[in-house]
Amino acid sequence: MKKIEVKTGSSKYPILVERGLLRRAGKIIAKLLPSRKSRCYVVAAAPVWSLWGKALEQSLAAANIEYKLLELADGERSKTVTVLEQLAERMASTGADRSCAVIAFGGGVTGDLAGLLASMYMRGVALFQVPTTLLAQVDAAIGGKTGVNLRTGKNLLGTFHQPRAVISDPELLVTLPERELRAGLFEVIKCGVIRDGKLFEALEQKKQAIVGRDLQQMERVILASARIKAQVVSADERESDLRRILNFGHTIGHALEADTGYKHFLHGEAVGWGMAAAAMIGTAVRKTPADVAQRIVSTVLSYSPLPEVNSRGEDIVKRLQADKKTIGGKVNFILPISVGKVAIYDKVSNEVIVDAVDQLHYLSRN
Ligand SMILES: NC(=O)c1ccc[n+]([C@@H]2O[C@H](COP(=O)([O-])OP(=O)(O)OC[C@H]3O[C@@H](n4cnc5c(N)ncnc54)[C@H](O)[C@@H]3O)[C@@H](O)[C@H]2O)c1
Ligand SMILES: [Zn+2]
Repeated sequence: MKKIEVKTGSSKYPILVERGLLRRAGKIIAKLLPSRKSRCYVVAAAPVWSLWGKALEQSLAAANIEYKLLELADGERSKTVTVLEQLAERMASTGADRSCAVIAFGGGVTGDLAGLLASMYMRGVALFQVPTTLLAQVDAAIGGKTGVNLRTGKNLLGTFHQPRAVISDPELLVTLPERELRAGLFEVIKCGVIRDGKLFEALEQKKQAIVGRDLQQMERVILASARIKAQVVSADERESDLRRILNFGHTIGHALEADTGYKHFLHGEAVGWGMAAAAMIGTAVRKTPADVAQRIVSTVLSYSPLPEVNSRGEDIVKRLQADKKTIGGKVNFILPISVGKVAIYDKVSNEVIVDAVDQLHYLSRN
C-alpha cells in the first residue's frame, strides 16, 4: 500500500492508494475511529451505492464497524444546504453523538457535502474520504475543503475540515462513466505540466493503457497527482505561489464554464481547454517555448473528445475581469515554462486572450 502524508497546521493524515484497497478500508478506518463504539455514517450517491455499496459494507463488517447509510440523489443538485440539513437531522434522530464518524463514499459532490456535514455536526466529528471518481482521488478528497452551493454561486458556503484518512482504490474507477474518467485525466495532465515532467511523459506514452483503465497505470497516475496536491496543501503560507500553480488551466477554464452556465463542460473538460489556451498565450507572450506548447496542446487533444468551444473571446475577457481572483484588473495567468514548471504572469493583453479563444474555436471544430 502506497502512503502519502498530508501535514497541515492542524492535522496530519495519510492518503492511501492501492488496487483493491476498498476490501481493507474497514480495517483502516477502525484503527482511526475516535472510539471503539463510534458509529459510522456512510454518505453515498445512489448510483455509487448500487455499484459498490456491497463491497464497502463487507469491508466495514469485516472490521466490526456498524454503519448507517445516508443516501443522496446523484449530482451537483445535492450540494445544497437543504440536503445538508436533512442529513444532519437523520444523524441526530438516530442518536449520532460526538464520537461518530462520517465516511464520504463517492465523487467530489459527496466529499464536499459529507465533509461539511462532518465539520458542522456537533461542531465537528471524524471524517474519512473514500473517493470513487478520478477527480476526487487526485483532487477533491485531499486538502479538507468542504462546501455546498448557493443559488448565487458554487461552493459559497463551506469550511475546512481535514479527514482522518483518504482511502483511494483505483479499482473503483472501472465503473466510472468514460466522460468522467477523461475529465479527471485533464486534472492529471495539469499536475504533470505544473510539477512532474515524468508524469506528463507517462500520459503521452501510455495513453491507451490509461484510457483503457489499466489498473497499474491508474494507480501510478493517482499517486503522482495526489502527491502534488498533498505537497501543495501541506506547504505553509509563505509558499502561497505553490498553491496558485494548481490553478493552471483554470483561469480560462472557469470563464468557459461560467460562460456556458456550468452546463456545457464538465469541470475537467473546461480545464483541458484552459490548459491549451494557457499554452498558446504563453507562446504569444514569449514565456512558453513553441515545442512545450505543442506538447501540451497535443496531449490535451489526444485525451478528447472535448465539447466544442463557442464562447466569444470578448465575453471570456469580461468574465476574467469579473473573476474574484482578478486583482486591480490584472488577470493572473499560470504559464508553462517547460513541461514540469510554470510561472505566474499578469501582463497578458486582451487581444492575446481573444486570439487564444479563437484558436480554441478552431481546434474544437477540427
Ligand atoms: N473540495 C475540493 O477541494 C474540490 C476540488 C475539486 C472539485 N470539487 C468539487 O467536486 C465536485 C465534482 O466532483 P466529481 O467530478 O467527482 O463529480 P460527482 O461527485 O458528481 O461524480 C460524477 C459522477 O460519477 C458517478 N460516480 C462516482 N463514482 C463512480 C464510480 N466509481 N462508478 C460509477 N459512477 C461513479 C457519480 O454518481 C456522478 O454521477 C464539484 O462539486 C466540485 O466543486 C471539490
Ligand atoms: Zn480543477
